[in-house]
Amino acid sequence: MNPLKHVAIIMDGNGRWGLKKKKSRNAGHRAGLNTVEKIIKETIKNNIKFLTLYAFSTENWKRPKKEIKFLFNLLEFFLKDKIEDLNKQKIKLKIIGKKNFSPELNHLLRVSEKKTSKNKRLQINLALNYGSKAELINAFKELKKRNEAINEKNLKKYLQSNNTPDPDLLIRTGDTKRLSNFLLWQLAYSEIFFEKKLWPDFNEKDYNKIIKKYKNIKRNFGNI
Ligand code: IPE
Ligand code: IPE
Ligand code: MG
Repeated sequence: MNPLKHVAIIMDGNGRWGLKKKKSRNAGHRAGLNTVEKIIKETIKNNIKFLTLYAFSTENWKRPKKEIKFLFNLLEFFLKDKIEDLNKQKIKLKIIGKKNFSPELNHLLRVSEKKTSKNKRLQINLALNYGSKAELINAFKELKKRNEAINEKNLKKYLQSNNTPDPDLLIRTGDTKRLSNFLLWQLAYSEIFFEKKLWPDFNEKDYNKIIKKYKNIKRNFGNI
């Protein structure tokens, strides 16, 4: 059975769910938060050490201002409400992506990271204003600045996932089969599952089904 240290998830389908069920995309984003909580709990139950959640891409700035504002308000509300609880559950929160939000939100994110930085049970990498191309370009710039050799080991040091093993498993909900600029380097050998359900409908049972399938895959890494 394959070990499972790191799960990465593209949480897609909130907008469509909201339009279908409540006639508003934002209602879907709100409902998606419940799934986030369920999946965090189930990740801990499965004794998985790293969970990377794609919450907002560098391309998502193209969306209407009203939706963007709603999303960040939701995040602020969630963190203020839940950070103590996450801390009690020994969860470490790390933001990947560029923190160039409002001064208040940047502060809240930094405080939340600091507060939970010593926790060891589960590390959640929350990808916010994250784009894999930007991450890679930044890493190459760091190598150039320091005049370091371009090799895998050095490049990895400057990726934002530097203290995280590469994902073993990638799940994308929402019935779309693409990577949308997510962890292009880190996913080189991940097992990928595209799930038909929209994110707010995704549940523990679906998650465990995928984990079970993943555990039985023959992973070759180029070998036979
Ligand atoms: C994913 O759901 C969440 C974010 C990108 C913030 P979407 O908002 O992309 O939902 P769909 O794909 O439009 O249904
Ligand atoms: C990917 O979903 C980003 C997140 C889930 C945060 P999108 O809905 O933005 O992806 P595209 O635009 O359909 O590729
Ligand atoms: Mg989408």
